[in-house]
Amino acid sequence: MKIAFAGKGGVGKTSLAAWTADWLARSGRNVWMVDADTALSLGQASGVSADALPEPLIRRADLVRERIHADGFLKLNPEVGDLPESLAVDVPLGGPVPDGVTAGRKRLLVMGAVTNAGGGCACDANALLKAVLANLIVDRDDWVIVDLEAGVEHLGRGTVAHVDGLIVVSEPSMRSLQTGAEVGRMASDLGLHRQVLALNRFRGGQVPELAGLPTSCVTIPQLDGLLDRQMQNASVLGLPESEAIDALVQDCLGKLAE
Ligand SMILES: Nc1ncnc2c1ncn2[C@@H]1O[C@H](COP(=O)(O)OP(=O)(O)OP(=O)(O)O)[C@@H](O)[C@H]1O
Ligand SMILES: [Mg+2]
Repeated sequence: MKIAFAGKGGVGKTSLAAWTADWLARSGRNVWMVDADTALSLGQASGVSADALPEPLIRRADLVRERIHADGFLKLNPEVGDLPESLAVDVPLGGPVPDGVTAGRKRLLVMGAVTNAGGGCACDANALLKAVLANLIVDRDDWVIVDLEAGVEHLGRGTVAHVDGLIVVSEPSMRSLQTGAEVGRMASDLGLHRQVLALNRFRGGQVPELAGLPTSCVTIPQLDGLLDRQMQNASVLGLPESEAIDALVQDCLGKLAE
């Protein structure tokens, strides 16, 4: 299963992507984490130090030239099958593995943002991301977790066509929900109907009905353990609230599968 996390800026996309990937790996699934945002975030949220992160794929001018501009033309279906294996880094698990479970392997592929293509062209970044997503050959039980950049500008057929599910992350505010509704509507228009709304920092209350907002919803409370720690530590894993986070990740994936 390939799932993407989208929504307005700063709402918790990367955190939820990191929690989901970690729960899946601790439950025995192999996971590919794809950071399609301005580098560094998903890896650091998963406990990888900044200096251990690979160069974002989109800044690898050599590869872009070689794969995207082969023969002097922009190739819309570049050959990238070998890239995930050769460029991904292994990421350690962020919590305990239940007795009797063999943990899966968690790997991170840093793409870089599509709209802010590392000084390069957004169409190159898009072609590369689309090709990598299409070519990430996963076993039936493997998962791909894609952390998208904020907003809706990058949401095109390229990013959406190759994922099976979308988590629309939002804060409990009208502006954030409106962006979420726009993301949901665009994804639906592109044929991606399997969507769940993850309402982060939820404090109770009625969610407004906005056309496009996924009807299936999970809520995440404010996490004091994360607030207490985040000045010292970029990782969102291994929090005092980990059990509750694992439960809500399962709830979210269950709703996505419905
Ligand atoms: N439920 C929560 N309780 C407390 N802090 C949270 C919660 N969810 C996320 N945060 C914090 O909020 C900040 C933004 O979260 P995160 O980076 O996951 O958002 P994002 O949507 O990926 O942002 P961006 O659009 O910049 O990529 C981080 O510092 C994160 O630790
Ligand atoms: Mg992010």
